[in-house]
Amino acid sequence: MLFVMRTASATPIKQNFFTKMEAAKKYTWHKIADSIAAINFAANNLAEVEVAGKIICLALHNGMLHACTQKCPHAGGYLSEGHLDALGNIVCPLHRYKFSLQNGRNVSGEGYYLKTFPIEIREDGVYAGFAGSGLFGWLK
Ligand code: FES
Repeated sequence: MLFVMRTASATPIKQNFFTKMEAAKKYTWHKIADSIAAINFAANNLAEVEVAGKIICLALHNGMLHACTQKCPHAGGYLSEGHLDALGNIVCPLHRYKFSLQNGRNVSGEGYYLKTFPIEIREDGVYAGFAGSGLFGWLK
């Protein structure tokens, strides 16, 4: 699902959709780049970036930017070395498990969950949100 965020510029910017639970989380936002164009995507439209001491994977599909952990939850494959399928799911290069970049669901059915991060496009750059690790942070 998508929503469109309007900024001071006339061009609406597509953003990841937040569920009510996602919106209720407190995020710490970290700048990734000055713009999407400044991100160094490989030919597979995936990029590995370090932000706030974490290595994450960025995926660009149909003009939408997504972020997830770099390591696959199955056995640690580097997702930036995988590919995106026609639906925009990320496919791990090791065992080809597929994950939705919208919600982290393991759409190929093996029962894993990929941690995803919300993205915001702001006037001054692209930001990824990391959920706080408060009292119940271990539940994530
Ligand atoms: S390590 Fe990713 S599917 Fe096995």
